Amino acid sequence: MKILILNGSPRSQGLISRMLDIMAEEARIRGAEVEAIPIRKLQVRPCTGCMACRSRQACVLPEDDAQRTLQKIQWADVLIVGSPCYWGNMNGHLKVVFDRIVYGMMGESPKGIPQALHKGKKAVIVSTCSTPWPFNIWFNQTRGVVKALREILKWSGFSIKGVIQKGGTKQHPELTESDKKKCRKIIRNL
Ligand SMILES: Cc1cc2nc3c(=O)[nH]c(=O)nc-3n(C[C@H](O)[C@H](O)[C@H](O)COP(=O)(O)O)c2cc1C
Repeated sequence: MKILILNGSPRSQGLISRMLDIMAEEARIRGAEVEAIPIRKLQVRPCTGCMACRSRQACVLPEDDAQRTLQKIQWADVLIVGSPCYWGNMNGHLKVVFDRIVYGMMGESPKGIPQALHKGKKAVIVSTCSTPWPFNIWFNQTRGVVKALREILKWSGFSIKGVIQKGGTKQHPELTESDKKKCRKIIRNL
């Protein structure tokens, strides 16, 4: 199994990073080939909205890390996406990457009907926020991140096999044993 981890947190020692590290470790123990991309290290220009990629199947902007990230997503059988909640949504840098690669995630028929380009692949979503549980869910904080990522992954053809939403990271900046178990369990169930 080939697993790609997209880490949307700018904090290399934050909770998203630590949960994704546990997942990577568990996946490697189980024989998976794992690659991880820390989004904070990518040089990616924002989408200009020209829509030329719809007919060209390629972005008009000079090649940067967006195209390279898409190649890695095409390589993977499983995509694990982690993002902290920023303003009720995914981190902006991560969103810029997904905007730039829309043509390689979801195609369009001549009549404009969406066509998933990653059918049969699996995905996992991990999100954190400082709003404590259960308000992170009720007030659409980590839930907002999950909703936004689901939208991208669903229309791209991924089947979501696991979701982790961890609220209250300001009061509880450490992972509990239960958080760690959840991370490993999701990988075992892939
Ligand atoms: C720019 C910015 C916006 C944020 N917006 C929210 C928010 O809307 N809701 C929330 O609960 N926490 C918000 N936070 C807090 C982060 O979600 C929280 O610190 C998270 O746990 C960081 O995850 P990490 O440790 O994996 O990087 C925000 C933080 C930043 C830096």
